[in-house]
Amino acid sequence: MRLDGFVEPGSEEVALLESLDAGRLPRHIAVIMDGNGRWAGQRMLPRVMGHRAGIDSVREIVEDTRRLGIGALTLYAFSTENWKRPKAEVRTLMRLLKEFIRKEMRRVHENNIRFQAIGRVRELDESVQGELRRFEELTAGNTGMVLNVALNYSGRAELTDACNRLIAERARAGDASEVDEDAIAGALYTAGLPDPDLLIRTSGEVRISNFLLWQIAYAEIYITPTFWPDFRRRHLLEALVEYQRRDRRYGGI
Ligand code: IPE
Ligand code: IPE
Ligand code: MG
Repeated sequence: MRLDGFVEPGSEEVALLESLDAGRLPRHIAVIMDGNGRWAGQRMLPRVMGHRAGIDSVREIVEDTRRLGIGALTLYAFSTENWKRPKAEVRTLMRLLKEFIRKEMRRVHENNIRFQAIGRVRELDESVQGELRRFEELTAGNTGMVLNVALNYSGRAELTDACNRLIAERARAGDASEVDEDAIAGALYTAGLPDPDLLIRTSGEVRISNFLLWQIAYAEIYITPTFWPDFRRRHLLEALVEYQRRDRRYGGI
């Protein structure tokens, strides 16, 4: 495919972009942004410097996904299990999140991107929730792309919340019928979005870490050894090229 001004002329990204079929891009990409701590460790820096550097990757990947015309991007930023980390690291992650929102909100809005925080957001610090609400409200009417950021998220928590929502709704309506897959999908945080076609995990770990358990049923999984702070446009294009090489059979032949 071609995209004016997207890649540096003469760079290796040109060939990657040209080899992509614009008609077969994923509709939704999910990313487990991993390896910030190890990136910092390699440089003898404190872990939080890795998180800070990871923000530049977030900015670039959000803009690039939008430019490519992909309809949805879901980024795993903080899991329900990440509370196990030292308090200082958690505090810094929350501070960086607020800083990111304040700095990037305008640009995301100008790019016609709708932001959504997914996860047990109500358990986050009130000041974080305030920033998230501002960001969601500002961008609520945007139609270019959906940007989900998973915060205090886990796939099992999401499925549990979905079940409880369905139980409550049905109790209210006096509805004792069985639920079907559409009802469950419609009660998830990602209701209304197509399932991710491509799941990217950086830093080489070959596991799901409780991410989007329901939605990734047929996602193509792409694992790269690159640490998240190093993951930029070229790496995204490489992932897309690999994705388009896959034969998606969905159980058929
Ligand atoms: C991913 O990087 C960011 C979060 C989970 C918040 P890590 O902090 O997990 O980095 P590693 O895996 O320890 O290198
Ligand atoms: C997964 O990374 C969660 C996020 C990227 C936010 P972790 O670093 O927490 O996952 P594990 O502990 O290696 O499974
Ligand atoms: Mg990690």
